[in-house]
Amino acid sequence: MRHLVTLDDLSNFEIEQIFRLAEGMQSQQETWAGICRSKLLATLFYEPSTRTRLSFESAMERLNGGTLGFADPSSTSMAKGETLADTARMVTNYADIIVMRHSWAGSARVMAHYSNIPVINGGDGSHAHPTQALTDLYTIIRRKSQVQGLTVGICGDLRYGRAAHSFTLAAARFGANLVHIAPHGLQMPPWVLTRLAENHKQTPLEVENVTEVIETLDVIYVNRLQEERLPPNVDAKAVRGSYLLNAAVMKNAKPDAMIMHPLPRVNELAYELDDDPRAAYFEQSANAVPVRMALIASLMGLEQLILTQPPTRNISESTEQCENPNCVTNHETYLTSECETFNGDAGVVACAYCGSLLS
Ligand code: NCD
Repeated sequence: MRHLVTLDDLSNFEIEQIFRLAEGMQSQQETWAGICRSKLLATLFYEPSTRTRLSFESAMERLNGGTLGFADPSSTSMAKGETLADTARMVTNYADIIVMRHSWAGSARVMAHYSNIPVINGGDGSHAHPTQALTDLYTIIRRKSQVQGLTVGICGDLRYGRAAHSFTLAAARFGANLVHIAPHGLQMPPWVLTRLAENHKQTPLEVENVTEVIETLDVIYVNRLQEERLPPNVDAKAVRGSYLLNAAVMKNAKPDAMIMHPLPRVNELAYELDDDPRAAYFEQSANAVPVRMALIASLMGLEQLILTQPPTRNISESTEQCENPNCVTNHETYLTSECETFNGDAGVVACAYCGSLLS
């Protein structure tokens, strides 16, 4: 059984295969219509979503599969205290594949562990959003042919933005040169920087303002301030609107740069850029459908693109409790702590659920 909890669950080869299938599905949709007939996708959305849920439903229905699920957790047994493990055991009997979104980091890993059908992480707290990163890479490759060698700037709330975390790790894997652009206090968290260094030998340039680096960037990936995740001691007013990409800033950018954003935008990406040919964010949200079609078909084994064994990772039981208060292990008490030791440096150990570094 293969799941997609983080992009570490797929090899680069598998990702490239999924992209090839997505291209075929995008250009000749009717060829693949029917391959999910009589299959069901469960969409378990414990947190708000527009694009992710709708594009997954669109993807499944374009393959002639069916969907069931919820977008309002207050109407589910979670409100009565049901655990993720029990929900997983139950949904396994109702559907053939699950996509879920939840506010706890590591929640998708729990669902995957207790389910007998593939589980896709549609966003877990401020941890990861692997299918967004797949869509992002695919969009870059369609415009620029490859990611290798591009200078990719990731801008905005990099501390709490799960799309930014998965995207920077994915771009590093495919050979981008990274620049992290974030206001003070919202920089990329240590667990992501450590993975970039240990697994991909990348130490991104870190700056506070996009104007410092705009002329060097091939890709400018903007993220909103994750206001719903800010701890009470961070003053949202002080950081809100502290970064803005607009026509004046883009005057100094490369003529063939790409402007990206996982959306929704709030006030960090000016509407005046929508007609700029460099704007790629609506294309990015459109590409979510063929990429998710290809992913569903691959994880369900309907297209033999995914190998039977996931890439190897060094994961073991741990006696140490994760210190991240938003980690699923601090909410669901039946879970056993597990840690991952990175390749390359035996001294670096992280929580296997939420990625936080363990001391
Ligand atoms: C992102 C998310 O939910 O993490 N949205 C999305 O899925 N495109 C980004 C965000 O909410 O800022």
